[in-house]
Amino acid sequence: MVAIPGPSIMPDQVLAAMQRPMVNIYAGELVDVTHSVLNDLKLVARTEGNPFIAIANGHGAWEMAITNTLSRGDKVLVLESGHFATGWGAMAAMLGVEMEVLPGTLSDPVDPAAVQSRLQADTGHEFKAVLVVQVDTGTSVVNDIPAIRAAIDAAGHPALFMVDAIASLGAVRFEMDAWGVDVLVGATQKALMAPPGVGLVWANAKAWDAYHRSDLHSAYWDWGPRADLSLAHYFRFAGTPPVPHLFAMRAALDLLFQEGLEAAWHRHDVLARAVHAALDAWSVSTDLRINVAQPSARAQTVTTVRTTTTDAESLRSLCETRTGLTLGQAVGGLVGQGFRIGHMGHLNPPMLLGTLGTLEAGLIAQGASLERSGVGAAAAVIGEELGAAG
Ligand SMILES: Cc1ncc(COP(=O)(O)O)c(C=O)c1O
Repeated sequence: MVAIPGPSIMPDQVLAAMQRPMVNIYAGELVDVTHSVLNDLKLVARTEGNPFIAIANGHGAWEMAITNTLSRGDKVLVLESGHFATGWGAMAAMLGVEMEVLPGTLSDPVDPAAVQSRLQADTGHEFKAVLVVQVDTGTSVVNDIPAIRAAIDAAGHPALFMVDAIASLGAVRFEMDAWGVDVLVGATQKALMAPPGVGLVWANAKAWDAYHRSDLHSAYWDWGPRADLSLAHYFRFAGTPPVPHLFAMRAALDLLFQEGLEAAWHRHDVLARAVHAALDAWSVSTDLRINVAQPSARAQTVTTVRTTTTDAESLRSLCETRTGLTLGQAVGGLVGQGFRIGHMGHLNPPMLLGTLGTLEAGLIAQGASLERSGVGAAAAVIGEELGAAG
């Protein structure tokens, strides 16, 4: 079983939906599937904005977002909260955009007050965009997107607000229009329960306005032909569509809507609290600590665990080679300092309790003498939830 923060486990229905012969890519069923998927992507992001499907991973979606909205010499403000926003900013810099990082720590969310004061100081409105991630998959911090929007508004700054929800969309509340997000970036391989290989970008009217002024367009990423409904279906993808991925996305979105978006957000919240409870229990007699101290800033999709004396790499390796449980390795500034538990997408209590139980067995195998059971603590959280829900 994989408990890495993406690619996550794919439901059988999604796997089955991909196993089919190729079809006509210009007319018929596939065209209908594309349109229904694009329509449902608006519902997932809660937007009237335009969704784009890129045959790419998340990095490709990042590049699509930048090249369609910015120009050489523009400046962007990158809000650091770990590993990923700065990676996005570095990509912009390679494309000729100047980036400034608002520094963060490795375990705290972005401070909206700091965003406000930096933007207030930008009286000439040199920043054309503010880039942030909702969940940083490296540190497992969740940023408060509406609070950052409020900070931008309080500074009276016109920059585009661009958010990466690659590690959260479908699992954590996201309201693109209500929150005033101009460009949203996602990918299929995490909470959206489909295979890696498809990047997603949504653009609102303000982003479209920026598109008409930007000079970084390239033939492949260009939003223009992709959104032009007078052109053939082929142009939605700047070439041959990702046929199996489209059928997979259709099946995954069906599962998400059968459950209900709000119910999926709630399930992720309960399962995340169960993971946190397990770690709190283990922390009584081991050096395992949740990287993010502030409970409200802990992501609902991934938990980064810090260790000091426990050898995280041998724990991970023992779980993987002796039991079949693959945990995530630490990334970015936390390499060598712990491991990560992915808990998003196609995940239910038996799967999560199995993961935590295996990890507990791994700790015992490494010689830990546990005063409290993490599995017991996690089961208590889930049990309380089941009881409350009747
Ligand atoms: C928050 C976030 N942004 C961007 C990326 C990059 O996505 P990809 O690896 O699909 O290029 C990741 C990957 O894990 C991520 O977690």
